[in-house]
Amino acid sequence: MNTVAVVGTQWGDEGKGKIVDMLAADADVVVRFQGGNNAAHTLVVDGRRYVLRLVPAGALHPGKACVVGNGTVVNPIALLGEIDDLKKNGFLKEPELFRLSYDAHMVMPYHIAIDRAREARAGKRAIGTTGFGIGPAYEDKMARVGLRFEELLDQTAFIERLRRNISEKNAYLKSVLKAKPVKADEIVEAMKKARRRLLPYLCDSGAYLSDTIAAGKRVLFEGAHGTMLDIDHGTYPYVTSSNCIASAAYDGVGIGPSNQLAVLGISKGYTTRVGAGPFPSEFTGQLADSLREEGGEFGSATGRPRRIGWFDAVQARYAARVNGLWGIALTKLDVLTGLDPIKICVGYVVKGKRYDQMPASHRMLLSAKPIYEEMPGWRESPANARTLDELPAAMRNYVDRVGEIVGVPIAMIGVGAGRDATIVLRNPFTA
Ligand code: IMP
Repeated sequence: MNTVAVVGTQWGDEGKGKIVDMLAADADVVVRFQGGNNAAHTLVVDGRRYVLRLVPAGALHPGKACVVGNGTVVNPIALLGEIDDLKKNGFLKEPELFRLSYDAHMVMPYHIAIDRAREARAGKRAIGTTGFGIGPAYEDKMARVGLRFEELLDQTAFIERLRRNISEKNAYLKSVLKAKPVKADEIVEAMKKARRRLLPYLCDSGAYLSDTIAAGKRVLFEGAHGTMLDIDHGTYPYVTSSNCIASAAYDGVGIGPSNQLAVLGISKGYTTRVGAGPFPSEFTGQLADSLREEGGEFGSATGRPRRIGWFDAVQARYAARVNGLWGIALTKLDVLTGLDPIKICVGYVVKGKRYDQMPASHRMLLSAKPIYEEMPGWRESPANARTLDELPAAMRNYVDRVGEIVGVPIAMIGVGAGRDATIVLRNPFTA
Protein backbone atom coordinates (compact mmCIF):
# COMPACT_ATOMS: atom_id res chain seq x y z
CA MET A 1 0.00 0.00 0.00
CA ASN A 2 1.31 3.47 -0.83
CA THR A 3 -0.52 5.16 2.03
CA VAL A 4 0.24 3.99 5.55
CA ALA A 5 -0.91 5.34 8.90
CA VAL A 6 0.83 4.66 12.18
CA VAL A 7 -1.32 5.07 15.28
CA GLY A 8 -0.90 4.40 18.98
CA THR A 9 -3.23 1.74 20.40
CA GLN A 10 -2.72 2.68 24.06
CA TRP A 11 -2.34 6.02 25.89
CA GLY A 12 0.50 7.30 23.74
CA ASP A 13 4.21 6.64 24.28
CA GLU A 14 4.00 3.25 22.55
CA GLY A 15 7.28 3.80 20.75
CA LYS A 16 5.70 5.19 17.57
CA GLY A 17 8.70 7.44 16.92
CA LYS A 18 11.05 4.58 16.21
CA ILE A 19 8.62 2.76 13.91
CA VAL A 20 7.71 5.96 12.06
CA ASP A 21 11.39 6.75 11.66
CA MET A 22 11.99 3.28 10.24
CA LEU A 23 9.04 3.44 7.83
CA ALA A 24 9.99 6.97 6.82
CA ALA A 25 12.95 5.42 5.02
CA ASP A 26 10.42 3.78 2.64
CA ALA A 27 8.15 6.85 2.32
CA ASP A 28 8.37 9.95 0.15
CA VAL A 29 6.36 12.16 2.49
CA VAL A 30 5.71 11.96 6.23
CA VAL A 31 2.66 13.77 7.62
CA ARG A 32 1.39 14.86 11.03
CA PHE A 33 -2.40 15.21 11.02
CA GLN A 34 -3.49 15.94 14.60
CA GLY A 35 -2.29 17.07 18.00
CA GLY A 36 0.48 19.53 18.71
CA ASN A 37 3.67 19.67 20.72
CA ASN A 38 1.98 17.69 23.48
CA ALA A 39 3.27 14.78 21.39
CA ALA A 40 6.91 13.85 21.62
CA HIS A 41 8.38 11.21 19.38
CA THR A 42 11.73 9.97 20.59
CA LEU A 43 14.16 8.57 18.05
CA VAL A 44 17.66 7.25 18.46
CA VAL A 45 19.80 7.81 15.37
CA ASP A 46 23.46 6.79 15.39
CA GLY A 47 23.34 6.58 19.18
CA ARG A 48 21.92 10.12 19.52
CA ARG A 49 18.51 10.78 20.97
CA TYR A 50 16.19 13.22 19.16
CA VAL A 51 12.77 14.31 20.40
CA LEU A 52 10.41 15.57 17.71
CA ARG A 53 7.25 17.31 18.88
CA LEU A 54 5.78 18.95 15.79
CA VAL A 55 8.03 18.15 12.86
CA PRO A 56 7.27 14.70 11.38
CA ALA A 57 9.92 12.03 11.79
CA GLY A 58 10.70 12.15 8.07
CA ALA A 59 12.87 15.16 8.92
CA LEU A 60 15.60 12.79 10.09
CA HIS A 61 15.84 11.31 6.60
CA PRO A 62 17.52 13.55 4.04
CA GLY A 63 15.36 14.24 1.00
CA LYS A 64 12.00 13.25 2.54
CA ALA A 65 9.20 15.79 2.53
CA CYS A 66 7.38 16.57 5.79
CA VAL A 67 3.88 17.99 6.08
CA VAL A 68 2.04 19.30 9.14
CA GLY A 69 -1.64 19.12 8.25
CA ASN A 70 -4.67 21.27 9.04
CA GLY A 71 -5.80 18.98 11.88
CA THR A 72 -2.89 19.98 14.07
CA VAL A 73 -2.54 22.85 16.53
CA VAL A 74 0.90 24.37 16.27
CA ASN A 75 2.77 26.64 18.64
CA PRO A 76 4.62 28.76 16.06
CA ILE A 77 7.50 29.65 18.35
CA ALA A 78 7.98 26.03 19.43
CA LEU A 79 7.89 24.95 15.79
CA LEU A 80 10.58 27.43 14.78
CA GLY A 81 12.72 26.33 17.74
CA GLU A 82 12.38 22.71 16.65
CA ILE A 83 13.26 23.57 13.06
CA ASP A 84 16.34 25.48 14.27
CA ASP A 85 17.48 22.54 16.41
CA LEU A 86 17.05 20.13 13.52
CA LYS A 87 18.99 22.42 11.21
CA LYS A 88 21.80 22.73 13.75
CA ASN A 89 22.08 18.95 13.71
CA GLY A 90 22.28 18.83 9.93
CA PHE A 91 18.63 17.98 9.18
CA LEU A 92 15.90 19.89 7.27
CA LYS A 93 18.52 21.43 5.04
CA GLU A 94 16.11 21.99 2.15
CA PRO A 95 13.35 24.32 3.41
CA GLU A 96 10.98 23.38 0.57
CA LEU A 97 10.79 19.89 2.04
CA PHE A 98 8.90 21.16 5.10
CA ARG A 99 5.27 22.26 4.68
CA LEU A 100 2.70 23.56 7.13
CA SER A 101 -1.01 23.79 6.31
CA TYR A 102 -2.58 27.24 5.97
CA ASP A 103 -5.51 25.83 7.95
CA ALA A 104 -3.61 24.52 10.99
CA HIS A 105 -4.45 26.46 14.15
CA MET A 106 -1.92 28.39 16.18
CA VAL A 107 -1.36 27.69 19.86
CA MET A 108 -0.87 31.05 21.54
CA PRO A 109 0.55 31.89 24.97
CA TYR A 110 -2.98 32.55 26.29
CA HIS A 111 -3.91 28.93 25.48
CA ILE A 112 -0.98 27.76 27.56
CA ALA A 113 -1.87 30.12 30.41
CA ILE A 114 -5.49 28.94 30.41
CA ASP A 115 -4.52 25.25 30.26
CA ARG A 116 -2.15 25.63 33.23
CA ALA A 117 -4.45 27.82 35.29
CA ARG A 118 -7.37 25.43 34.86
CA GLU A 119 -5.27 22.43 35.80
CA ALA A 120 -3.92 24.23 38.87
CA ARG A 121 -7.45 25.10 39.99
CA ALA A 122 -8.85 21.63 39.30
CA GLY A 123 -6.84 20.02 42.15
CA LYS A 124 -7.78 16.36 42.40
CA ARG A 125 -9.99 16.62 39.31
CA ALA A 126 -7.06 17.68 37.09
CA ILE A 127 -6.59 15.79 33.82
CA GLY A 128 -2.83 15.99 34.09
CA THR A 129 -2.44 17.74 30.73
CA THR A 130 0.97 18.45 29.28
CA GLY A 131 0.31 22.14 29.92
CA PHE A 132 1.06 23.10 26.32
CA GLY A 133 -2.30 24.78 25.65
CA ILE A 134 -3.65 22.03 23.40
CA GLY A 135 -7.19 21.81 24.79
CA PRO A 136 -7.81 25.59 24.79
CA ALA A 137 -6.43 25.85 21.22
CA TYR A 138 -8.82 23.18 19.95
CA GLU A 139 -11.66 24.86 21.87
CA ASP A 140 -10.99 28.07 19.94
CA LYS A 141 -10.91 26.16 16.69
CA MET A 142 -14.37 24.70 17.35
CA ALA A 143 -15.66 28.04 18.64
CA ARG A 144 -14.45 29.59 15.36
CA VAL A 145 -12.28 32.16 17.09
CA GLY A 146 -8.94 30.41 16.57
CA LEU A 147 -6.10 31.87 14.53
CA ARG A 148 -5.06 29.82 11.54
CA PHE A 149 -1.71 30.15 9.83
CA GLU A 150 -3.48 31.57 6.76
CA GLU A 151 -4.03 34.72 8.85
CA LEU A 152 -0.33 35.46 8.49
CA LEU A 153 -0.94 36.47 4.89
CA ASP A 154 -2.38 39.79 6.10
CA GLN A 155 -0.29 41.08 8.98
CA THR A 156 -2.58 43.99 9.92
CA ALA A 157 -5.74 41.88 10.09
CA PHE A 158 -3.84 39.14 11.93
CA ILE A 159 -2.52 41.49 14.62
CA GLU A 160 -5.96 42.98 15.08
CA ARG A 161 -7.54 39.56 15.61
CA LEU A 162 -4.66 38.49 17.84
CA ARG A 163 -5.06 41.56 20.06
CA ARG A 164 -8.81 41.02 20.26
CA ASN A 165 -8.30 37.40 21.33
CA ILE A 166 -5.65 38.38 23.88
CA SER A 167 -7.91 40.94 25.48
CA GLU A 168 -10.82 38.45 25.74
CA LYS A 169 -8.59 35.70 27.10
CA ASN A 170 -6.95 38.04 29.57
CA ALA A 171 -10.35 39.01 30.92
CA TYR A 172 -11.13 35.29 31.37
CA LEU A 173 -7.73 34.56 32.90
CA LYS A 174 -8.07 37.37 35.44
CA SER A 175 -11.70 37.24 36.41
CA VAL A 176 -12.55 33.54 36.14
CA LEU A 177 -9.26 31.70 36.57
CA LYS A 178 -7.67 34.28 38.89
CA ALA A 179 -4.47 33.91 36.91
CA LYS A 180 -1.88 36.31 35.52
CA PRO A 181 -2.78 37.84 32.14
CA VAL A 182 -0.48 37.37 29.15
CA LYS A 183 1.50 40.30 27.72
CA ALA A 184 -0.08 41.50 24.48
CA ASP A 185 2.81 43.57 23.15
CA GLU A 186 5.36 40.80 23.70
CA ILE A 187 3.18 38.27 21.88
CA VAL A 188 2.54 40.63 18.97
CA GLU A 189 6.25 41.37 18.57
CA ALA A 190 7.20 37.70 18.72
CA MET A 191 4.54 36.87 16.13
CA LYS A 192 5.66 39.62 13.77
CA LYS A 193 9.14 38.11 13.76
CA ALA A 194 7.85 34.55 13.49
CA ARG A 195 5.52 35.49 10.63
CA ARG A 196 8.34 36.24 8.21
CA ARG A 197 9.93 32.87 8.89
CA LEU A 198 6.69 30.90 8.75
CA LEU A 199 5.22 32.25 5.51
CA PRO A 200 7.53 30.29 3.17
CA TYR A 201 6.45 27.00 4.73
CA LEU A 202 2.69 27.45 4.24
CA CYS A 203 0.85 25.11 1.88
CA ASP A 204 -2.49 23.51 1.08
CA SER A 205 -1.83 20.10 2.65
CA GLY A 206 -4.83 18.43 0.97
CA ALA A 207 -3.94 19.58 -2.54
CA TYR A 208 -0.27 18.73 -2.05
CA LEU A 209 -1.00 15.24 -0.71
CA SER A 210 -3.67 14.44 -3.31
CA ASP A 211 -1.15 15.22 -6.03
CA THR A 212 1.54 13.25 -4.25
CA ILE A 213 -0.67 10.19 -3.88
CA ALA A 214 -1.92 10.49 -7.49
CA ALA A 215 1.71 10.54 -8.62
CA GLY A 216 2.15 7.11 -7.00
CA LYS A 217 4.37 8.35 -4.19
CA ARG A 218 4.35 6.84 -0.73
CA VAL A 219 2.85 8.78 2.15
CA LEU A 220 3.25 7.94 5.82
CA PHE A 221 0.69 9.42 8.23
CA GLU A 222 2.28 9.79 11.65
CA GLY A 223 -0.37 9.62 14.35
CA ALA A 224 0.36 11.20 17.71
CA HIS A 225 -0.83 10.18 21.21
CA GLY A 226 -2.96 7.03 21.22
CA THR A 227 -6.40 5.53 20.73
CA MET A 228 -7.25 5.71 24.43
CA LEU A 229 -6.47 9.46 24.40
CA ASP A 230 -8.81 10.10 21.44
CA ILE A 231 -11.33 12.83 22.22
CA ASP A 232 -14.28 10.62 21.13
CA HIS A 233 -13.02 7.08 21.55
CA GLY A 234 -10.67 7.39 24.50
CA THR A 235 -11.19 7.47 28.26
CA TYR A 236 -13.04 10.80 28.24
CA PRO A 237 -12.53 13.25 29.94
CA TYR A 238 -8.98 11.96 30.59
CA VAL A 239 -8.01 12.36 26.95
CA THR A 240 -6.36 14.85 24.67
CA SER A 241 -8.41 17.24 22.55
CA SER A 242 -8.01 15.72 19.09
CA ASN A 243 -9.08 12.56 17.29
CA CYS A 244 -6.01 10.34 17.37
CA ILE A 245 -7.39 7.35 15.48
CA ALA A 246 -6.51 6.50 11.88
CA SER A 247 -9.56 8.08 10.24
CA ALA A 248 -8.41 11.48 11.56
CA ALA A 249 -5.65 11.27 8.94
CA TYR A 250 -8.25 12.15 6.31
CA ASP A 251 -9.75 15.29 7.85
CA GLY A 252 -6.42 16.20 9.37
CA VAL A 253 -4.87 16.81 5.96
CA GLY A 254 -7.80 17.23 3.58
CA ILE A 255 -8.02 14.02 1.54
CA GLY A 256 -10.92 11.55 1.28
CA PRO A 257 -11.31 8.00 2.61
CA SER A 258 -11.18 6.49 -0.89
CA ASN A 259 -7.41 6.71 -0.35
CA GLN A 260 -7.22 3.48 1.60
CA LEU A 261 -4.68 3.34 4.41
CA ALA A 262 -2.78 0.36 5.76
CA VAL A 263 -3.06 1.11 9.47
CA LEU A 264 -0.23 -0.08 11.66
CA GLY A 265 -1.08 0.04 15.37
CA ILE A 266 1.81 0.50 17.76
CA SER A 267 1.48 -1.31 21.08
CA LYS A 268 4.09 -1.52 23.76
CA GLY A 269 4.59 -5.05 25.15
CA TYR A 270 3.24 -3.58 28.38
CA THR A 271 1.17 -0.43 28.99
CA THR A 272 1.93 3.04 30.30
CA ARG A 273 -0.04 6.20 30.85
CA VAL A 274 0.81 9.73 31.96
CA GLY A 275 -1.77 11.94 33.57
CA ALA A 276 -4.92 10.95 35.39
CA GLY A 277 -7.69 8.56 34.36
CA PRO A 278 -8.62 4.89 34.46
CA PHE A 279 -5.96 2.25 33.82
CA PRO A 280 -7.30 -1.25 34.60
CA SER A 281 -4.03 -3.19 34.16
CA GLU A 282 -1.94 -0.72 36.20
CA PHE A 283 0.38 -1.99 38.93
CA THR A 284 2.56 -0.11 41.36
CA GLY A 285 5.44 -0.90 43.72
CA GLN A 286 8.95 -2.17 43.11
CA LEU A 287 8.14 -4.07 39.92
CA ALA A 288 6.58 -0.96 38.38
CA ASP A 289 9.53 1.18 39.50
CA SER A 290 12.10 -1.12 37.96
CA LEU A 291 10.15 -1.45 34.71
CA ARG A 292 9.85 2.35 34.57
CA GLU A 293 13.62 2.68 34.96
CA GLU A 294 14.40 -0.13 32.54
CA GLY A 295 12.03 1.23 29.89
CA GLY A 296 12.90 4.90 30.46
CA GLU A 297 9.22 5.49 31.11
CA PHE A 298 9.28 9.21 31.77
CA GLY A 299 7.26 11.56 29.55
CA SER A 300 9.30 12.84 26.59
CA ALA A 301 7.24 16.04 26.53
CA THR A 302 7.10 16.74 30.26
CA GLY A 303 9.52 14.36 32.01
CA ARG A 304 6.71 13.05 34.24
CA PRO A 305 7.04 9.42 35.43
CA ARG A 306 4.64 7.23 33.49
CA ARG A 307 2.20 4.90 35.24
CA ILE A 308 2.94 1.24 34.47
CA GLY A 309 0.69 -1.72 33.68
CA TRP A 310 0.53 -5.06 31.88
CA PHE A 311 -0.44 -5.41 28.23
CA ASP A 312 -4.20 -4.94 27.96
CA ALA A 313 -5.65 -7.13 25.21
CA VAL A 314 -9.19 -5.78 25.72
CA GLN A 315 -7.90 -2.34 24.88
CA ALA A 316 -5.86 -3.64 21.94
CA ARG A 317 -8.93 -5.41 20.47
CA TYR A 318 -10.84 -2.15 20.83
CA ALA A 319 -8.04 -0.23 19.12
CA ALA A 320 -8.06 -2.82 16.33
CA ARG A 321 -11.74 -2.10 15.75
CA VAL A 322 -11.78 1.69 15.90
CA ASN A 323 -8.64 2.03 13.79
CA GLY A 324 -9.26 -0.87 11.40
CA LEU A 325 -5.78 -2.18 12.13
CA TRP A 326 -3.87 -3.94 9.37
CA GLY A 327 -1.13 -5.05 11.75
CA ILE A 328 0.51 -4.41 15.09
CA ALA A 329 4.06 -3.41 15.91
CA LEU A 330 4.79 -4.74 19.39
CA THR A 331 7.49 -2.53 20.85
CA LYS A 332 9.95 -2.50 23.74
CA LEU A 333 9.74 -6.23 24.38
CA ASP A 334 13.37 -6.15 25.54
CA VAL A 335 12.19 -4.19 28.60
CA LEU A 336 10.22 -7.24 29.81
CA THR A 337 13.39 -9.40 29.93
CA GLY A 338 13.84 -10.93 33.38
CA LEU A 339 10.20 -10.61 34.45
CA ASP A 340 8.48 -13.87 35.32
CA PRO A 341 5.58 -14.38 34.95
CA ILE A 342 4.42 -11.84 32.38
CA LYS A 343 0.74 -11.01 32.52
CA ILE A 344 -1.75 -10.17 29.78
CA CYS A 345 -5.04 -8.56 30.72
CA VAL A 346 -7.66 -10.57 28.82
CA GLY A 347 -10.86 -9.20 30.35
CA TYR A 348 -12.33 -6.98 33.05
CA VAL A 349 -14.76 -7.50 35.87
CA VAL A 350 -16.99 -4.51 36.52
CA LYS A 351 -19.54 -4.75 39.32
CA GLY A 352 -19.39 -8.53 39.21
CA LYS A 353 -19.89 -8.78 35.44
CA ARG A 354 -17.16 -10.03 33.06
CA TYR A 355 -16.26 -8.00 29.97
CA ASP A 356 -14.11 -9.45 27.21
CA GLN A 357 -14.69 -6.42 25.00
CA MET A 358 -14.34 -2.75 25.91
CA PRO A 359 -17.38 -1.69 27.97
CA ALA A 360 -19.51 0.86 26.12
CA SER A 361 -19.05 3.38 28.91
CA HIS A 362 -15.38 4.08 29.50
CA ARG A 363 -16.30 5.40 32.92
CA MET A 364 -16.80 1.76 33.90
CA LEU A 365 -13.04 1.34 33.53
CA LEU A 366 -12.60 3.39 36.70
CA SER A 367 -13.75 0.38 38.72
CA ALA A 368 -12.70 -2.40 36.31
CA LYS A 369 -10.70 -5.27 37.83
CA PRO A 370 -8.34 -6.96 35.38
CA ILE A 371 -8.51 -10.67 34.54
CA TYR A 372 -5.01 -11.91 33.75
CA GLU A 373 -3.51 -14.73 31.79
CA GLU A 374 0.07 -15.50 32.83
CA MET A 375 2.90 -16.39 30.48
CA PRO A 376 6.40 -17.58 31.39
CA GLY A 377 9.07 -14.89 31.04
CA TRP A 378 12.56 -15.07 29.50
CA ARG A 379 16.04 -14.22 30.78
CA GLU A 380 18.04 -14.00 27.53
CA SER A 381 18.33 -10.54 26.00
CA PRO A 382 16.59 -10.30 22.62
CA ALA A 383 18.54 -7.13 21.71
CA ASN A 384 20.55 -8.73 18.90
CA ALA A 385 17.71 -10.78 17.43
CA ARG A 386 16.79 -9.78 13.88
CA THR A 387 14.62 -12.77 12.97
CA LEU A 388 11.83 -14.58 14.81
CA ASP A 389 14.04 -17.63 15.23
CA GLU A 390 16.62 -15.61 17.14
CA LEU A 391 14.11 -14.55 19.81
CA PRO A 392 14.06 -16.33 23.17
CA ALA A 393 11.41 -19.08 22.86
CA ALA A 394 9.30 -17.68 25.71
CA MET A 395 9.30 -14.24 24.10
CA ARG A 396 8.16 -15.70 20.83
CA ASN A 397 5.32 -17.48 22.64
CA TYR A 398 4.35 -14.17 24.23
CA VAL A 399 4.29 -12.42 20.85
CA ASP A 400 2.24 -15.23 19.30
CA ARG A 401 -0.23 -15.18 22.17
CA VAL A 402 -0.70 -11.40 21.97
CA GLY A 403 -1.40 -11.65 18.22
CA GLU A 404 -3.84 -14.48 18.81
CA ILE A 405 -5.80 -12.76 21.60
CA VAL A 406 -5.95 -9.43 19.82
CA GLY A 407 -6.80 -11.03 16.49
CA VAL A 408 -4.45 -8.83 14.44
CA PRO A 409 -1.20 -10.03 12.83
CA ILE A 410 2.00 -8.93 14.55
CA ALA A 411 3.90 -7.11 11.82
CA MET A 412 6.93 -5.89 13.76
CA ILE A 413 8.69 -6.63 17.03
CA GLY A 414 10.80 -4.03 18.82
CA VAL A 415 13.81 -5.44 20.68
CA GLY A 416 15.78 -2.27 21.46
CA ALA A 417 15.94 1.49 21.04
CA GLY A 418 18.20 1.75 17.98
CA ARG A 419 16.95 2.22 14.43
CA ASP A 420 17.81 -1.36 13.45
CA ALA A 421 16.52 -3.07 16.62
CA THR A 422 13.22 -4.16 15.06
CA ILE A 423 12.19 -7.47 13.56
CA VAL A 424 10.04 -6.69 10.54
CA LEU A 425 7.68 -9.50 9.59
CA ARG A 426 5.50 -7.44 7.24
CA ASN A 427 6.11 -3.93 5.95
CA PRO A 428 2.83 -2.08 5.23
CA PHE A 429 4.38 -0.29 2.23
CA THR A 430 5.42 -3.51 0.54
CA ALA A 431 3.16 -6.25 1.94
P1 IMP B 1 -3.11 17.44 26.68
O1 IMP B 1 -3.04 16.72 25.38
O2 IMP B 1 -1.88 18.22 27.01
O3 IMP B 1 -4.36 18.27 26.80
O4 IMP B 1 -3.22 16.34 27.85
C1 IMP B 1 -4.35 15.51 28.00
C2 IMP B 1 -3.96 14.10 28.42
O5 IMP B 1 -3.30 13.46 27.34
C3 IMP B 1 -2.98 14.06 29.60
O6 IMP B 1 -3.24 12.90 30.37
C4 IMP B 1 -1.63 13.91 28.92
O7 IMP B 1 -0.67 13.31 29.76
C5 IMP B 1 -2.00 13.01 27.77
N1 IMP B 1 -1.12 13.11 26.61
C6 IMP B 1 -1.15 14.04 25.64
N2 IMP B 1 -0.23 13.77 24.71
C7 IMP B 1 0.39 12.65 25.07
C8 IMP B 1 1.41 11.83 24.47
O8 IMP B 1 1.93 12.10 23.39
N3 IMP B 1 1.77 10.73 25.18
C9 IMP B 1 1.19 10.39 26.34
N4 IMP B 1 0.22 11.09 26.92
C10 IMP B 1 -0.17 12.21 26.29
